[in-house]
Amino acid sequence: MTSVITDSFTHDHHRCDRLLAAAETSLTLGDWSEIAPAAQALVAAMEQHFRLEEETLFPQLAQVFAVAANPIEVMTAEHAQMRALFEDLTAAVGTRDKDACVGILETLHFVGQQHNYKEETVLYPMADGALRERGEGIAACLPAQ
Ligand SMILES: [Fe+2]
Ligand SMILES: [Fe+2]
Repeated sequence: MTSVITDSFTHDHHRCDRLLAAAETSLTLGDWSEIAPAAQALVAAMEQHFRLEEETLFPQLAQVFAVAANPIEVMTAEHAQMRALFEDLTAAVGTRDKDACVGILETLHFVGQQHNYKEETVLYPMADGALRERGEGIAACLPAQ
């Protein structure tokens, strides 16, 4: 069985993890000229990942595998929860509220790890099984690194 979706989307989770770690490091150093772009890069990467899941992966999976509807709904709700955190983060960066930024990134880290674990162990293997060779084309839409 192919694992191209599991492998490539997990790889992209790690890209987002590195950007989250970089944002946390920039906060520790306390230089706002670094914190703002680090936070922006994190939000942009996670948004890009969510969009590919919501606009391509999830609809294609739902089309061929009805059982996926419920986990997809849960994943999409968690994306919405994290998008609210992106807004909070952007606002906290805007007012240079370091403590708020640290707290938001901690929450994002926790929620994101739980979310990614569910995708990597349940949803992505389900997608590999159901979409088979179509997975290559979907994975190709992910950023190259
Ligand atoms: Fe997701
Ligand atoms: Fe994901």
